[in-house]
Amino acid sequence: MAGFFITFEGVEGCGKTTQAKLLREYLIKEGYQVLLTREPGGPGISEKIRNILLDKGNSEMLPETELLLYMASRSQHTGQWIIPALQKGEIVISDRYYDSSLAYQGAARKINRNIIDIIIRYATFGLVPDITFIIDIPVEIGLSRITANLADRLESETMAFHEKVRQGFLDIAREDEKRYIIIDGRKDIDEIHEQIIHSIKLQGRLQ
Ligand code: TYD
Repeated sequence: MAGFFITFEGVEGCGKTTQAKLLREYLIKEGYQVLLTREPGGPGISEKIRNILLDKGNSEMLPETELLLYMASRSQHTGQWIIPALQKGEIVISDRYYDSSLAYQGAARKINRNIIDIIIRYATFGLVPDITFIIDIPVEIGLSRITANLADRLESETMAFHEKVRQGFLDIAREDEKRYIIIDGRKDIDEIHEQIIHSIKLQGRLQ
């Protein structure tokens, strides 16, 4: 595929949304066609599934249901938006992608890794990001950036849950040191942005 697929991952409040937007602005200025999107979400169907997933009223949702809804949202997103954009040669930036399922539903909810891997392959049509930035920060710093009364269903999970998510991301990163770039999210915004651009250039994909 001609395009380039960049994903951002990390615990709640790590700053990845800010970085995804900064990267988009930078790439557009450099003359690239860019699609910035997010998970769960993207096209209308995926956004509707997002609402079900994040609704605090759905506290009885089973881990199995949760996994399948994230994946349903993802398959629509990947097939309807991401793959067509990549085929047109665009750069796609997604604020979260399937590594979030490995960290949240896998490491934190303890769903079997083999099952998740199989469903990921199915839901993504085998698409793998070219580069994934994991913005790592201590959980308490991330959560302190979220207003408690506005927290959604996942954000309202315990500290222990979010610690498992953080560790999950760090463990996944060790599986492929070329694709995953761990970034210290405590550094300032501009410094992180520079590091991100530098890493993408190192991959030889930008002039
Ligand atoms: P969102 O408000 O987009 O959070 P953030 O700004 O932190 O990205 O909500 C997405 C939530 O869904 C977040 O808590 C992480 C969770 N999530 C999963 O549990 N599994 C997944 O596969 C994805 C994509 C997200």
